[in-house]
Amino acid sequence: MKSLWIETTKDEIILNPLEKDKETEICVIGGGLFGLTTAYYLTQQGKKVIVLEKGEIGEKVSGNTTGKITSQHGLFYEHLINDYGKEYAKKYLEANEEAIENIKEIIKKEQIECEFYKQNAYVYTMQEDEVIEIQKEVEAVKELGKEAEFVTQTELPFKIKGAIKFKEQAQFHARKYMIGLCKAILKQNEIYAYTTVTDVVKEEDKYNIYTDRGNVKAKYVVIATHYPIINMPGFYFTKMYQSTSYLIAIETDKKLPQGMYISAKEPIYSFRTATYNGKQILLIGGSEHKTGKAIEDNSNYKELEKKAKELYPDCKILFKWNTRDCISLDKIPYIGEYSNIMKNMYVGTGFKKWGMTLSNIAGKIVSDKIMGKENKYETIFNSTRIKPIKNRWEVKNMVEETVKSIVLNKFKIEPEDLKQIENDNGAIIEINGENIGIYKDPQGKIYAVKPNCTHLGCLLTWNNLDKTWDCPCHGSRFDYMGRNIYEPAIKDLEIKNIK
Ligand code: FES
Repeated sequence: MKSLWIETTKDEIILNPLEKDKETEICVIGGGLFGLTTAYYLTQQGKKVIVLEKGEIGEKVSGNTTGKITSQHGLFYEHLINDYGKEYAKKYLEANEEAIENIKEIIKKEQIECEFYKQNAYVYTMQEDEVIEIQKEVEAVKELGKEAEFVTQTELPFKIKGAIKFKEQAQFHARKYMIGLCKAILKQNEIYAYTTVTDVVKEEDKYNIYTDRGNVKAKYVVIATHYPIINMPGFYFTKMYQSTSYLIAIETDKKLPQGMYISAKEPIYSFRTATYNGKQILLIGGSEHKTGKAIEDNSNYKELEKKAKELYPDCKILFKWNTRDCISLDKIPYIGEYSNIMKNMYVGTGFKKWGMTLSNIAGKIVSDKIMGKENKYETIFNSTRIKPIKNRWEVKNMVEETVKSIVLNKFKIEPEDLKQIENDNGAIIEINGENIGIYKDPQGKIYAVKPNCTHLGCLLTWNNLDKTWDCPCHGSRFDYMGRNIYEPAIKDLEIKNIK
């Protein structure tokens, strides 16, 4: 199931894989919003850049977003002031507000038609006891110098108890924007699709980027792969997990709410309009969970569909898709040097579901670093920070999941149960003391893999909705044939032969 953004931009850009070895100043690994924004800013300053993307440009996390461009990241600023201080929170807010303007400027300069509209953004609650938190957030945001309003009425088709409103935020068609960035980059530089990076090795003062299509030599490398693909140094796998969320697009004859909305607490629901075939439609998001949880059916979509039918009984579901986001344990992205001992290697990750503005900030910071310019926001996203993590619950949760996944075989069944696996379903069975991941396609054909993640070996879980093997440790994913689709793993699963 492809997203509205991907379906409506099919074949709008055709890029070839790398065909021979190349040398450049900067190699950007990853063709999502962060990678393309970085490459765009560097191209504008006359730098020689090559972008390498494993699949199609903007078809992974950035192509499956809600496309909300906002500095309103849920209820966040009161927490930031309490944990990091007012100056820090003010800079975080300013950086995100500036990113909205930066995106607007790029769209104007490059004349990108990407359905960019100014919108108000709201975080709402339907619970009386959550109103106080919303009011505190309004006060916190005002203290930081931004206008924010407490409202009790919105255009949503249900009653709320209260909401915080930010004016002058925006929404767009994320993939049309990315294609616009690509076209601007391609005027001077190169982008290669279907090119998988297999290793990055420092050799003297340059990096050798090995791919399945040829090698690229570059002085600077930007790791823009959503989840960083190099384990050590950097150790990002100890600092981030992934969260999956779902979206549906519906069509209805009823009037749709203008503005962008998200609920303050669980269950999280998110709303915004979009355009499809010249008509306004509504996107409803939510139903999130940690990536790697075993998924047996389509209950996550069903939950959203139930909500849609409740609100708009006449509605028709047009699209369904899901995405995953990297969440750092302290909820602050990592932007800047990959590590203190990897000179000229940069990273941007951990955008915690608010990647439209944060990817722009990251692209600006990283391109400024490469250009040797100061960026006033670089210190607040410092990627090499070593601070005690206050979010102890998440740390405990991540460690427990990792240990559980390595030690326990949660979905083990006996070999004789192989015949009990239904067609179009998967499970792990033990054969001769070895775990084998089995998927039976709709015709009963068996695909067998070693169900251990090629990142750090965690036992994978079967996702029967997307027909993938998902890793509960850091969120890597593999298709039913074992082909790697999401990082941090970069290698495919080992194929097993069973009779
Ligand atoms: Fe790290 Fe699987 S993603 S072990």
